[in-house]
Amino acid sequence: MDSNKRPENMTRITTPELAQAFIAEQIAAVKKQVGDKKVLLALSGGVDSSVVAALLIKAIGKQLVCVHVNHGLMRKGESEQVVKVFRDQLGANLIYIDATDRFLDKLAGVADPEAKRKVIGGEFIRVFEEEARKISGIEFLAQGTIYPDIIESDKGVKAHHNVGGLPEDLKFELVEPVKLLFKDEVRVVGTALGLPASMVHRQPFPGPGLGVRCTGAITRDRLAALREADAILREEFEKAGLVGKVWQYFTIVPDYRSTGVRNGNRVFDWPVIIRAVNTVDAMSATVPELDWALLKKITDRILAEVPGVCRVLYDLSPKAPATIEWE
Ligand code: XMP
Repeated sequence: MDSNKRPENMTRITTPELAQAFIAEQIAAVKKQVGDKKVLLALSGGVDSSVVAALLIKAIGKQLVCVHVNHGLMRKGESEQVVKVFRDQLGANLIYIDATDRFLDKLAGVADPEAKRKVIGGEFIRVFEEEARKISGIEFLAQGTIYPDIIESDKGVKAHHNVGGLPEDLKFELVEPVKLLFKDEVRVVGTALGLPASMVHRQPFPGPGLGVRCTGAITRDRLAALREADAILREEFEKAGLVGKVWQYFTIVPDYRSTGVRNGNRVFDWPVIIRAVNTVDAMSATVPELDWALLKKITDRILAEVPGVCRVLYDLSPKAPATIEWE
């Protein structure tokens, strides 16, 4: 049987009981595959890699080595949450690498969106490779591959290897315990494994992170403004009960300034753009009619709390013609 094909009769995991049965099955399978060897996992903090980490910690404990690379483009508090949940609460063998300076130095002056993506992706592989070489006895690489990744990779849409591009001598045998699951099932399994709701129901976040929302050449001050504005938006959406109701929401800080006035003085500061969309598959998207009072509250908070910002805008453009991200 093709191990990459979901059996026709496989029950959709929708309940805690079905999730527990799946977890027990996978723990046995992973133990059998791995034996007493070590497994490496790039833990981004995204839903899929987090669920795989939690599952493997249950199966093989300290034989799992998780590497979390903070590329400096994470949302506020996300890397801290990865360390708190996995190292402190689940007792993971977690290597945390703060590679912020390395990434931001490499990105300095790079304005083209695709060039930025290449720098971030390429540097990620290099940092991960360096860490992999420091640890002896690794024979397996765990990945948060899920079924849509396999379908898309079969269709030639994208390569499903999350850590593709490692050199030949670091090609490990793969451990992919959730590769036959759909996203909703991964979330049910994550909840059954005890992961916090904020992690299990995390909205999609591009691999290049805030890097593609700090448009043009990234600067540290503008990135800091973006991170604060994004945190305010998320906090206010949460308070308004919109988590899980709006599919994706974030802010953008473009690389141009506009005139403003503060304390009677002229300023030349950045705008913050709010983006919120609803979609089923991210191929097309609509913009929700947000409550005016909520938009005003978010605007007031961003203008009062985020240095260097004098304007807030709401992007009303559907996809198509606009894409969800600005870059
Ligand atoms: P667009 O902007 O193409 O976005 O309408 C569709 C969905 O894909 C996400 N996105 C990315 N995800 N790496 C990722 O892992 C990327 O480079 C990237 N670019 C866009 C975007 O957040 C949205 O959910």
